[in-house]
Amino acid sequence: MGDMSVPQTTFNDDREMPLVGLGTYKLHGEELNRAVREAIELGYRHFDTATLYENEAELGQALADALKAGDVTRDELFITSKVWHDHHGKGKVDHAFHDSLEKLQLDYLDLYLIHWPWPQGGLYVETFEEIARLQGMGQIASIGVANFYEDTLQELIAKTGIVPVLNQVELHPGFTQPELREFHASQGIVTEAWSPLARGVILSNPQVDQVAQRHDITAGQAVLAYLMAKGISVIPKSSRRERLAENFAAAEVELDAADIESLDALEDQKGFGRMFQDPREFPGNA
Ligand SMILES: NC(=O)c1ccc[n+]([C@@H]2O[C@H](COP(=O)([O-])OP(=O)(O)OC[C@H]3O[C@@H](n4cnc5c(N)ncnc54)[C@H](OP(=O)(O)O)[C@@H]3O)[C@@H](O)[C@H]2O)c1
Repeated sequence: MGDMSVPQTTFNDDREMPLVGLGTYKLHGEELNRAVREAIELGYRHFDTATLYENEAELGQALADALKAGDVTRDELFITSKVWHDHHGKGKVDHAFHDSLEKLQLDYLDLYLIHWPWPQGGLYVETFEEIARLQGMGQIASIGVANFYEDTLQELIAKTGIVPVLNQVELHPGFTQPELREFHASQGIVTEAWSPLARGVILSNPQVDQVAQRHDITAGQAVLAYLMAKGISVIPKSSRRERLAENFAAAEVELDAADIESLDALEDQKGFGRMFQDPREFPGNA
């Protein structure tokens, strides 16, 4: 079992979440099982999945194995899943949620998110109300969103009277979404970074390398420590033990103002902006 303590962030509902989690997109089968068991050994407690990833049953089995082996207890774990567009709206969220819960072999989730606002569908407010109802029934501890932008957050808060605890968005050096984070801070919403390593693209950047060399850490650690210095939660994905270990240990790295400044300078530079879909457009009228 990991002997490192896990730094936590506190939500606006007073619950806590480990700042570092394991992203599980594209992890499956034996590889997922091994990665999750190793991650738990190393001290990871926070795991991120979604209906879309089609790995909830596999993650559920890995967690069940770890619980059975006594590696961890349920209350130490922090499990997030997300509802996909095809289950937005009344009467649908419930079905998707219970399917996730069953596959994960759990009786509650720590965090449940709307995966994308999908403004074209126009159902995110109703979807969030359904999620809040499930929370009221004790099946979800905390409720939040992913890929929301300021307009959609404003509308959600105004219409439901509920402030999501967290917004999980694309975020990495060069695309740290300062305006959105400022809005989050004003509302008490935790920012969580998906693709915090920009799927590895950012790791060969000379400025990242310079920070890594100065502190005798890896490029991945420099990137993750930079994001955590801004209070951002990170969920890097890896299936390799040494990377799981180095990513987790990034929470112990302390960067200084000069490091932060040099990585801040990557903001909006050519080739370092948004890499994936813009939530205002994705997935269109599908
Ligand atoms: N809400 C959303 O819409 C959304 C969208 C995308 C992702 N996500 C979530 O965010 C998680 C993370 O994002 P991501 O998987 O897209 O990208 P990521 O975590 O930025 O990058 C993962 C890639 O980087 C490699 N890697 C990991 N640690 C490394 C290290 N220390 N040094 C060098 N390479 C390293 C991994 O390879 P190896 O496995 O071979 O180590 C993998 O190819 C996902 O798994 C998912 O849970 C959410």
